[in-house]
Order: sequence, then C-alpha cells, then structure tokens
Amino acid sequence: MPTYNRYPIAFDHGEGVWLYDTAGNKYLDAISGIAVCPLGHKHPAFTKALIEQSQKLIHTTNLYSIPLQEKFAAKLCQDSGMQQVFFGNSGTEANEAAIKVARMYGHNKGIALPQIIVMEGAFHGRSMGSLSATYNTKHQEGFAPLLEGFLRVPLNDVEAIDKCLSENSGVVAIMLEPIQGESGINPCTASYLEAVQALCDEHDLLYILDEVQTGNGRTGLYFSFQHSSIQPDVLTTAKGLGNGFPVGACLIGGRAIDVMQPGHHGSTFGGSPLASAAGLAVNQAIHDENLMQNAQQQGNKIRTALQDNLADMSGFKEVRGLGLMLGIELSIPCGELVNLAREKGLLITVQMDKVIRLLPPLIISDAESQIIIDTLTLLIKEFCNEH
Ligand SMILES: Cc1ncc(COP(=O)(O)O)c(C=O)c1O
Repeated sequence: MPTYNRYPIAFDHGEGVWLYDTAGNKYLDAISGIAVCPLGHKHPAFTKALIEQSQKLIHTTNLYSIPLQEKFAAKLCQDSGMQQVFFGNSGTEANEAAIKVARMYGHNKGIALPQIIVMEGAFHGRSMGSLSATYNTKHQEGFAPLLEGFLRVPLNDVEAIDKCLSENSGVVAIMLEPIQGESGINPCTASYLEAVQALCDEHDLLYILDEVQTGNGRTGLYFSFQHSSIQPDVLTTAKGLGNGFPVGACLIGGRAIDVMQPGHHGSTFGGSPLASAAGLAVNQAIHDENLMQNAQQQGNKIRTALQDNLADMSGFKEVRGLGLMLGIELSIPCGELVNLAREKGLLITVQMDKVIRLLPPLIISDAESQIIIDTLTLLIKEFCNEH
C-alpha cells in the first residue's frame, strides 16, 4: 500500500554510522532508522548474537518458559528500576499493553470508564488505541471512531493536569513522552516530570512513560526519565531496544504490579529466543562500549557547536534535546533540507516543517559528529540566506 511517501533511494549495506546505496554512494546515517540502531549497522557482536541464536533456536511460544526472555527482562528491570516486563514487537504494541494495564487498573478499582490523560503533540503509534492517544489530527483523519477514554492537555503545564483532574472523574493514568520526538523534539522539564509524579501519587494514578524513542541510552542515560528524580509505574520502549530486530517492551512497577493476570494480554512473537538474544546483545553493547557516555559527549558537542555556529543566522531559532536526540528549529519551513542534506551524503529528517531532527547511532565517533556539524552548518546557513 502507498502508506509512505518514499525518497528515491535504496540502501544496499551499512557499516557503523555509514549506509551505502545501491549505486555505491556513501551516507552518514544521522537518523538510525528513526532512532532504531544505537549500535549502527553491521555491529560485530550484535550480528554474531543473531547468527548464533538463529542457529540454535528462533521461536517457541510464550506457553513455555523462555530463559533468554527472562534474562533480558531482568537486565531491563535492572537498568530501569521496573519489576516486570511484557514483550511485544513494536512501540505501538508496547503502548497498547500500557493502555490495557491502565484500563485494567481502573476496572480493578471499580471505575467502569477509565480515562487516561495524554498530551498535545504526543505520538504513541498507529493502532486504534495508540492512535487515539496520539495528538496529530493528520494521523487520525479518516479513522474515526477513535477509542474513547483519553483526555488531552498541553505539555509542560501542571495546572492543566490539575484542572483536568478536578473536572473529570475516572482518571486512572497520565501518559507522556519525556521528550516528544515525532512532534519536533519537545522536552519535558525535570520539574514538570516531578510534579506529574506528585500528582500521580496524590491521586493514585499510573504514571506511564513512553520511552519508545528516548530509551536505550539515546539521551545519555538508559532511560530519559532518569535525568529527573521520578520512577514511573509503566514504561514502554522499542526502537533502539533491538537495533533493528523488532522488539517492544512494556515494563511495570509500583502501582501497576499484579494488575495483569494470565489471559489478560499476549503476543505470538513477543520475547522469542531470537528477539531476546538480539535485545540482550544491544543491552550488553550499550554498557560494554560506554554508549550512554558517548551519547552525552557527542550530543553535547553537536548541540553546542550548532548553537554557536548558527547563533547569528536569521532564520535559526534554537537547538534542543538531550544526548543524541536533537532538534534544530528554524523559523522557516525547511523540509527541502532533507533532500539537500542527502545530496551531501547526510541522512536527516525534518519534523513539523521547521525542526531538523538528528538521531545518529550511539557509536558515532568524534570525527563523524564533526561531519554532521560541518555539513549542517553549511547547509543551514545557505538555506537561511536563500530564504
Ligand atoms: C514515542 C513513540 N511512541 C510510539 C511509537 C510507535 O512505535 P512503532 O512504530 O515501533 O510502533 C513511536 C514511533 O515513532 C514513537 O516515537
């Protein structure tokens, strides 16, 4: 189906942060398959783990114990402070699980029509539940009726949540992305995240964080909520979790423990031996290769350099984000920059017309970060001068 407006390019192979198209041209992949490849392409330990596990056992079923899945879950819990994990195959599925946990939590408390507070600008996926939690009307148009049970408030506005809670009964959860990715790299402030925690504690609500894009080391810590002093009840992640092997996870702790019981949810493929081996290899590389530290260092370097180089340009607004999840906002629409950058061998995306998004692999070197800085500085200056 023509569900994507595709660019006229196809890739043949990759190595590290580099992708090679079918004509042999080389590109620095500053998108990582949209935040999916923290280890870049053709990472030796990751490839070895996939090969070895596929020669041993690929799939059984969740009707049996899967020791690798248990090991993977334990590692994720150790890295997040969560207690239990449900494995699916995508971010959308992780969020569907989270929405179901919230509804069951409400029903267990005798709430017949549970409501979840969600954010303006949110992106949680394209299935009917996650699409209903998503903000973008462009994604929702034509798919009514959407699911009921979502209340919408502006991001970084504690009073709006307070008001929403006082005007509505049956609220069971607050769901948000610590940094909104699809709507243009919009970070929540630490004080906001902490105030939401206080509201969840006060009103006995589940605190649901969607770290599908921000998780797995991208922002410089394993999960981006760890930049503030909060602990969610439900945490979803995917994208970087499997470095391109489809894995999604919904982690629970705190008030969400014991909400889900046998028969409440399931997945044929989720947490298979192969998916778990892939996830474990990513987790190990993130730790062994100090990729969180590298994300912080390279992210700071790119952010500071672009901010300095572009500060005087009319048309440039700001660089924001954390670690290697960065947005460069211009005051003019700049979608054209995606093609112009590709012509110069750099892969980027532009969100909401005006925000250049960078999500390079976490293995990026100092010299490769410099290529991003130099290429983008030149391109943005030329673009702003011409427009
Ligand atoms: C924050 C967030 N949540 C959920 C999703 C959906 O994930 P997937 O495309 O793996 O279903 C995305 C995808 O961009 C995302 O950025």
